[in-house]
Amino acid sequence: DLPERVTLIEVGPRDGLQNEKNLIPAKNKIEFISLLKNAGFQEMELTSFVSPKWVPQMQDASVIIDNCLDDQRNFVLAPNQKGIDLAVESGVKHIAVFVGVSNTFNKKNINKSTEDSMNELRPLIEDLKRRGFFVRACISTSFYCPFEGKIDEQDVLKICLDFEEMGVDELSVADTIGMANPAECFELFTLLKHHLRGTTLLTAHFHDTRGMALANIFASLQAGIDRFDTSAGGLGGCPFAPGASGNVASEDVVHMLSQMGISTGIHLDKLLEAAAYISPLLSKPVSSKQFQLLKNV
Ligand code: HMG
Ligand code: MG
Repeated sequence: DLPERVTLIEVGPRDGLQNEKNLIPAKNKIEFISLLKNAGFQEMELTSFVSPKWVPQMQDASVIIDNCLDDQRNFVLAPNQKGIDLAVESGVKHIAVFVGVSNTFNKKNINKSTEDSMNELRPLIEDLKRRGFFVRACISTSFYCPFEGKIDEQDVLKICLDFEEMGVDELSVADTIGMANPAECFELFTLLKHHLRGTTLLTAHFHDTRGMALANIFASLQAGIDRFDTSAGGLGGCPFAPGASGNVASEDVVHMLSQMGISTGIHLDKLLEAAAYISPLLSKPVSSKQFQLLKNV
């Protein structure tokens, strides 16, 4: 049975913008976030505390947080002790850590082996949980890695179980370079649902590099997933994952689900306004189907 209601976590201000070549002024990001909140998103990745040398676009993280925090789930990404310290100081209550199943990818992305990242994160997450923070763990290269190829689903399960043991509230399982197919999504999410506690939120994060993201969402729905990371305008991509293009577009997902009678609580017209607002500031055109339709009528 498909769910009646699905939660979309808007990742446009973070995943969407992190790989954008034009440096976007903080005031425009703040307005983008405000338009997205007006469209109805209650969970959003706002920014990340990462090295400004590695990801210059995210260097204004504290300004974004100072202007955008409210009582909703506002996630800030942090890969290490320094990032988590900065996040805690900034006043956020929802922190997203990230790690790659693929060791080679993890080294390219955060300059550490997967095992070293997990060992660094364990005491930090346990401490955050003791202090009442909401912790989300983003798990990159859960299907394919640009360097190592196909990923073993048992390796994904192991990392998910390790995070669950540390006490994380949510796992966001990602197809970083958009190579997964619907059959693989159904299989992995069925396996994870079977082994994880019912209380751990399980979210799917699809990049649409090969046009399979909507099909992957449908297959994941069939496996019992009812939370998806999506990005307004279909922006996005990890700078350290060659071949990664944008996330699945929020507006295309909202449209598909509403046509299927599944509610998301998101107003499509207001979401398109947010995409239209950010579009002229980007180095690439917005290519989502819904945005193109809007421009052609
Ligand atoms: P490093 O060079 O090994 O770091 O990079 P370090 O510990 O040696 O420190 C070097 C400098 O960075 C120092 O500053 C630190 O203070 C600073 P300096 O003394 O040279 O002036 N530094 C930091 N500054 C701000 N925030 C921090 C931080 N940590 C150190 N947290 C590091 C290691 C992790 C910092 C680097 O590799 C990095 O920033 N990586 C981030 C990569 C990234 O943001 N990737 C994209 C997000 S993940 C993603 O998109 C995937 C996802 O969407 C799911 C999917 O699709 O797969 C989530
Ligand atoms: Mg991503």
